[in-house]
Amino acid sequence: MGAVTSGPEPAADYLRTGDVFERPFLLGAATAAYQIEGAADEDGRGRSIWDTYSHTPGLVAGGDTGDVAADHYHRLGEDLDLMNGLGLDAYRFSISWPRIQPGGTGPANRRGLDFYSRLVDGLLERGITPVATLYHWDLPQELEDAGGWPLRDTAYRFAEYAGLVADALGDRVPMWTTINEPWAAAYLGYGSGVMAPGRTDGAAALAAVHHLNLGHGLAAATLRERSAPGTSVSVTLNMHAARDGGDGGPEAVERVDALANGAFLGPMLRGAYPERLLTDTQDVTDWSFLRDGDLDLIHQPLDSLGVNFYSTVTVRMWDGTGEKTSADGHKPSTATPWVGSESVEFLPQPGPFTAMGWNIAPEALEQVLVGLGNAFPDLPLIVTENGAAFDDRRTPAGGVHDTGRIDYLHRHLVACARARERGVDLRGYFVWSLLDNFEWAHGYEKRFGVVHVDYDTQRRTVKDSGHWYAQLARTRRIG
Ligand code: FCB
Repeated sequence: MGAVTSGPEPAADYLRTGDVFERPFLLGAATAAYQIEGAADEDGRGRSIWDTYSHTPGLVAGGDTGDVAADHYHRLGEDLDLMNGLGLDAYRFSISWPRIQPGGTGPANRRGLDFYSRLVDGLLERGITPVATLYHWDLPQELEDAGGWPLRDTAYRFAEYAGLVADALGDRVPMWTTINEPWAAAYLGYGSGVMAPGRTDGAAALAAVHHLNLGHGLAAATLRERSAPGTSVSVTLNMHAARDGGDGGPEAVERVDALANGAFLGPMLRGAYPERLLTDTQDVTDWSFLRDGDLDLIHQPLDSLGVNFYSTVTVRMWDGTGEKTSADGHKPSTATPWVGSESVEFLPQPGPFTAMGWNIAPEALEQVLVGLGNAFPDLPLIVTENGAAFDDRRTPAGGVHDTGRIDYLHRHLVACARARERGVDLRGYFVWSLLDNFEWAHGYEKRFGVVHVDYDTQRRTVKDSGHWYAQLARTRRIG
């Protein structure tokens, strides 16, 4: 659709002060179950693909696993008070599917539901809006063994799980997100294999794309049916802002836009896959998994679109000579996540960079929001994740002076304010992340929290960025 790709923007001051985010604009923080909860074997929880992946030697930095993580499962009260202390309007968390259905099918595990019920009640008691994501990548291992997301049946299992959760929490959760970043689940999980379940099969990745879309549509309809009237239903996509990097740049940008953005925006919001996606991938799959009626099931009315944004990519078509660079921000692999577009070259980005090696480009967030606002003018947007990893150190005096993160958040919040000035209906911003946590294949090395976690003691320390964000939430104004 070309709507969320970007070229250079006129220079702007992304460190200006004074921008105002009056309520009901939501200033929140986000986490995900496997990244913070720990308690991997408790209260009947089953295993997910991330348990298997992280316990496979060599796949996660430092051999780290989510077994203990930030121990949030046992520190719920303390963490709720922490959120309250930061003055958050909203908290975005995910529900662990294997806590609810340990084997991916069958009745709900009451103890699993109870945990989320306590979480939701604890948020509501503190005046914090719960924003619940059903799927942030922790597929029950049994469902992967049966075929995983490349298998159509998984979408129907997901809808069943959605129904169980809606029946238990749908009276109290006002905002749902079906799936977090289906892009990563499909292409990194089944294409390049740098995320669970670690498969490297392009055709399987595209089948996963379709069944994640189908799962989204079925779950969205189920949530709508089985939650309180007025409940908001959404999905979170990580928008790729692709910049033209020279030879064949426009072609490369269009390929990336179709494969990364259009593959989800198209069916979910327009009821069709982009033509270009089908042709770009025709040598990989015949798309026979796409059945009559599927697009209607996927194309459900949504109340908002969640946008995750971190950085940009710069692309051109590889001319076949020399070494092809693959600086797409993801862990290198023998296989590509860019299924059918292996000929796209990802050029090194201009800095500055975060500790992930991701470039800092707030103007691209503004462009993404404006692009989406123009393409879907009636759909409110929410930035459901934005933030940065830096090599934080706690000083002997006990503070964490993460000025780099404050600078990053400041710039991106100004980008949000600028997008709103340009007419975008942006309703909220969630910092990634509330707490330092298990950063997938990077383990605990990468710290994204506005709250520091000492993994030896599980002590929480609000970083300077957390204090900065709390001030914003209190004053509603970038100071
Ligand atoms: C996003 C994920 C989130 C976190 C951030 C850094 O892609 O949704 O879980 O890992 O990246």
